[in-house]
Amino acid sequence: MLSKALLALAVGIATVQATPSPTKTHKPEHEPEHKHAAAANCFPALGFTMPSSPPASVANWWCDYSTDYAFLGFSYEITACQSLTQLKREFKDIRQTFNGRYVRLYGFCDNQGYYNDVIEAAWYAGIGVHALIWFGFDGDTKYLGRRDALLSVLHSNPKAAFVTRALQFGSEPLYDWAINPYDLVTEVNNARRNLSALQIPITVSEMAYGYQEHQNDGGMAVLGAIDFIDAHILPFFSTQASTANNSWPIVTGDLNWFLNNANGKKIYFSQNGWPSKTSSGVQPNSPSAVSNVQNENDYFKLLDSKCSYFKTVPGGGVGWFAHIYSENQEPGYGVYDSNGVLKFPFAPRAEC
Ligand SMILES: *[C@@H]1O[C@H](CO)[C@@H](O)[C@H](O)[C@H]1NC(C)=O
Ligand SMILES: *[C@@H]1O[C@H](CO)[C@@H](O)[C@H](O)[C@H]1NC(C)=O
Repeated sequence: MLSKALLALAVGIATVQATPSPTKTHKPEHEPEHKHAAAANCFPALGFTMPSSPPASVANWWCDYSTDYAFLGFSYEITACQSLTQLKREFKDIRQTFNGRYVRLYGFCDNQGYYNDVIEAAWYAGIGVHALIWFGFDGDTKYLGRRDALLSVLHSNPKAAFVTRALQFGSEPLYDWAINPYDLVTEVNNARRNLSALQIPITVSEMAYGYQEHQNDGGMAVLGAIDFIDAHILPFFSTQASTANNSWPIVTGDLNWFLNNANGKKIYFSQNGWPSKTSSGVQPNSPSAVSNVQNENDYFKLLDSKCSYFKTVPGGGVGWFAHIYSENQEPGYGVYDSNGVLKFPFAPRAEC
């Protein structure tokens, strides 16, 4: 499923490099006092104890955005329509084994009411969700049914607002020309209005290049409409790619573009990783790009080493998701292999 996006990224990086963005030095803003213990009074802080039932309102429920920095959790594809049992087991694993605070959904499951199972598993595991309205690559209007189904569950399930941190339109609807950008602005604003009572923010899961590509026909209006950034950071596909250890300038190229163009909005790296192998859908655009388990691991280690920088990025810091939980979900990108064995030791910091 990544293939089109990835192809795109090559083009995107080429564009980015044609207009290099200045490397800014970001002065740390005031250090948030939220340390582990203090933050444990909010969801989904590590150490937070879930109540037996949802409280009366979401006021003071969510942790401050500024605590959503460093490693947050995993991208998790639901196209297999995993059972509730599996969702609960794997969400709990994300929480307990890796100190994950969120899952970011990827793909789609069109079974009626499926998002109720996601909510149930997230509540059970004590983990927040970046939900997703999937566009796909076909330019069809299936997303309309998915949108209505998801909005309905968000209203009907009393736990929905307490585990759903964000509603994303994705993946890469701008890059894929899946929708006219101005129509996407309307979708974002309508969804926000629809969910205003639940206070669920709206975003679009997209590459910097998806916005850049539409810079003159609505891309910047989309960037202005979303509540925060869910950025796709996939440096393996850059024309400049070599090893993961050398990828930081590619990452900051995109990050700086968002910092320079998004008016201080909170930034998440929602779809973010480096593949351990190539496949028909995963082909590099640089002859020097290396894909192996060492480089998949090195990429996450590199991000982990930038924890104190991510903490101070304007807008409330950068929080990153690892793409993706299992090899069964995206070949080459799994942190677990297809037998459920870790491909490498994975213990990134969730705070610093
Ligand atoms: C939100 O959207 C859903 C699905 O289209 C609809 O059923 C519901 O009435 C809407 N709710 C509000 C408050 O707009
Ligand atoms: C990448 O850097 C890390 C940390 O310095 C090092 O342990 C690792 O061996 C490097 N990877 C490669 C492929 O050289």
